[in-house]
Amino acid sequence: MYKILTLNNIALAGLERLPRDRYEVASEFQHPDAILVRSHAMHGMALPDTLKAVGRAGAGVNNIPVAELSQRGIPVFNAPGANANAVKELVIAGMLLGARNIVQSWDFARGLEGDDETLHRQTEAGKKNFAGFELPGRTLGVVGLGAIGVKVANAALALGMNVVGFDPDITVQRAWQLSSQVQQATSVDDLFARSDFITLHVPLVEGTRGLISAQRLRRMREEVVILNFSRQGIVDDEAMVEALDSGRAYAYICDFPTNLLKNHPRVVTLPHLGASTREAEENCAVMVVDQVRDYLENGN
Ligand code: MLT
Repeated sequence: MYKILTLNNIALAGLERLPRDRYEVASEFQHPDAILVRSHAMHGMALPDTLKAVGRAGAGVNNIPVAELSQRGIPVFNAPGANANAVKELVIAGMLLGARNIVQSWDFARGLEGDDETLHRQTEAGKKNFAGFELPGRTLGVVGLGAIGVKVANAALALGMNVVGFDPDITVQRAWQLSSQVQQATSVDDLFARSDFITLHVPLVEGTRGLISAQRLRRMREEVVILNFSRQGIVDDEAMVEALDSGRAYAYICDFPTNLLKNHPRVVTLPHLGASTREAEENCAVMVVDQVRDYLENGN
């Protein structure tokens, strides 16, 4: 029997692909053959001697000690693209949250007190503070043109936006999935200078840590909405506060809270919800479980 240790909830649609006569799945095992994980941080965890494979039910692998595992010859499987639609939808929602001040105006409406006539008067007096702007004709800059970035780019075009993209590693295969209407920026700096909205879809690796620095944020146009549905560490939080306070950044929509940013009035943070749809959880679980099972059984 193969023993599979789950460090997070893994969708049943994936676990069902492990035949019960050959697999035991549990959240505690002394000697697992494989680990299935979502966002649980595995760094510092004692790796069992019996471990043969790790499956990450998501795209990013920064919560996994990949170098240590590969030194021991243990492969890490992930699920690139399996949750791309879910993330794309939340990015589009995030653009609207930022441009229309939805969270701030919702807070305002919930804080009103008095009879309905009073609420109406307060609404009329307060709503001017929340006037926003529309998407068509504005430019979205997409940093990272992987599975998610491409979907976001195409959705933004469908909303009437102009799109400029940058990815140093863009492949020919990826390029043909992009509409010819997506303009290619020559660098991140070039993209920053041309965008009204900027969305980040790069993994957290040494080359992307601090990518969105004070220097880059100062190159932006005025009143830019920035979306970070990637990872903490890609944006310099202190520089972002400065950009928001100076008005250069209009809003920052971010898929994880940080102490410096979560209470800023122009910031909306979400609890890492980008991939949290039933469909994405199932797609990721199926993709990663199939790879782990095939590796355990066939070595590939
Ligand atoms: C990803 O890397 O795809 C996400 O972090 C997945 C998740 O939220 O579990």
